[in-house]
Parts: sequence; C-alpha cells; structure tokens
Amino acid sequence: MRIVNTVLELRDAVRAWRLAGQSVALVPTMGNLHAGHLTLVNEAKKKADRVVVSIFVNPTQFGVGEDFETYPRTEREDQEKLDASGADLLFQPAVSEVYAPDAKTVVSVAGLSEQYCGASRSGHFDGVATVVCKLFNMVQPDVALFGLKDFQQLTVIRTMVRDLNIPVEIIGVETVREESGLAMSSRNGYLTAEEKTVAAKLYQSLCVARDAVLAGQQSYEEIEHRALLFLQESGFQPDYFSVCRMSDLKKAGTDDMELVLLTAARLGKTRLIDNICFSR
Ligand code: PAJ
Repeated sequence: MRIVNTVLELRDAVRAWRLAGQSVALVPTMGNLHAGHLTLVNEAKKKADRVVVSIFVNPTQFGVGEDFETYPRTEREDQEKLDASGADLLFQPAVSEVYAPDAKTVVSVAGLSEQYCGASRSGHFDGVATVVCKLFNMVQPDVALFGLKDFQQLTVIRTMVRDLNIPVEIIGVETVREESGLAMSSRNGYLTAEEKTVAAKLYQSLCVARDAVLAGQQSYEEIEHRALLFLQESGFQPDYFSVCRMSDLKKAGTDDMELVLLTAARLGKTRLIDNICFSR
C-alpha cells in the first residue's frame, strides 16, 4: 500500500489509475481504525478497482472543549491494518495540506445540520461537509463509502452531493457491532470496562423502541419518552432519542413506512451515538 501526504502525490497516483481505465473508491476516516472502518474498505474493494483510504483528524468538525487534541491517533497500527486489508493508497495529509490558513469557504447543509447531533455540536456538520467535499475534490472518486453508524452524517453528505451535483456515488454500509450490540467506535476506547457493559444498553433501547413501533404502538412520543427514561435509569445522560423518517430525518408520522431511530447519550465523559433503520 502506498502512503502519501500531499494532494499532488495523491492526484498523480489517481491519474495513473484513470489512464489505465480503473475506477476509484474513497473511504474517508479519522483513523484509530476498527472492524467498522475495515468493513468499509472491504466493501470498497467490491465497488471499484482501486481503494483510497484517507486518515485525517479534521479540526473543523470538533467544537471548543471537544476531543480534537486527545482523539486517538494510532498511525502505525492503522497502516498495518490497511496494508492487510488490501487498500491501494493511504492519504494522510497534515492540517496545513488540507486547509489554507485563511480559508474562507464552508459547505453547510442547512437545517439538517442543526438538528440532533448538530444541536449540541454547533458547526460540527459544516466541518464534516466541508472536509468531505474537499476530499471528493482531491480524490475525485467514482464511489465513496460511509457507515450507517453515523446516519445523520451520511444524510448530510448525500444531501450535499445532490445539491452540489458532485459526481460521486455514495454507498452506506451496515453498522459493525461488538457481540454485546455496542456499535464499534473509536470513542469506545474512552469507556471504562464498567461503562462498556452499560454502553450496550444504547443499542438495546433502540431495539426495544423498534419492536414497539413494529408491534403497532402509535404514539412515537411515548416511545421516545420511555427510551429516554430507560437510558437515564441505566446511567446515561441522554441527549436525544427520535423516531424519524429515513429520507430526511424529519419527525416520523404514523403514515411513514421507512424509519430510522436516532439516539445520542453521554456515558461518563464519552458521547455515544447509534441508530436503527427499518421498514414498517
Ligand atoms: P470516523 O469516525 O473515523 O468514521 C469513518 C467512517 O467509518 C464513517 O463513514 C463512519 O460512519 C464509519 N464507521 C464508524 N464506525 C462504524 C461502525 N461501527 N460500523 C460501520 N461503519 C462505521 O466519520 C468520520 O470519521 C468523519 O466524520 C469523516 C467522515 C472522516 C469526516 O472527517
């Protein structure tokens, strides 16, 4: 696997593949790779001839007081995992390679970016949309893969691609979970052993709520209320729990058939998110 740090080297490599008639997939990450990330790489290999993985801890998507400085950076382990996964190229730029010091342009997906995680993480999704847009322009991939785990992020990116006519196909990949049901996440490393056992209850709360919807429970507010209570009683400080329409993340009505349950909750110092998609 080739490792490059500059846009110039990246573009040279991609140009050579293009000249050989090969298609290109991009898997954007912030590193500290786990089985969830590696599943994206595996899926990418099925979708294109060449796979580019980016590792970039993007400062613009972290708010003041968030974990940008302490976000786990595990360069050597990540490179070994990617090497073994069969990725073709790792793009690992410095912050100065990605952002001009006087950068003035921000990509903002209005509305969608201020709800749910955006409500408590002001500016987060503008940072995500901007860096993903930049990565698309740097790599110019045919397809890009993202985890369903970050469902709101995936919806923001799909909307951006539609609204800006970016010529890339977005593929969502199923959430990879621990045996306990806990969604794999780089931030799980912040949890103590005890917290990790409790953390699995976040997925449990989603399963119970989904089953209530499927059993015909009509009051989604009641379902949300009960889930929030369950999370509180389990030791979380819940942020939100919402029954949403899958297409645009608006609050679901009882006539909506494609649903996603979105939740975020703090456990000690760690903020966890999860979701379940299903059809009624
Ligand atoms: P990061 O958290 O490193 O995640 C990179 C990709 O892996 C995202 O598409 C995310 O949804 C996916 N992913 C994470 N955990 C997963 C799991 N358990 N199962 C399946 N996929 C999973 O998300 C980001 O980085 C950043 O916001 C980024 C898009 C790279 C922009 O900076």
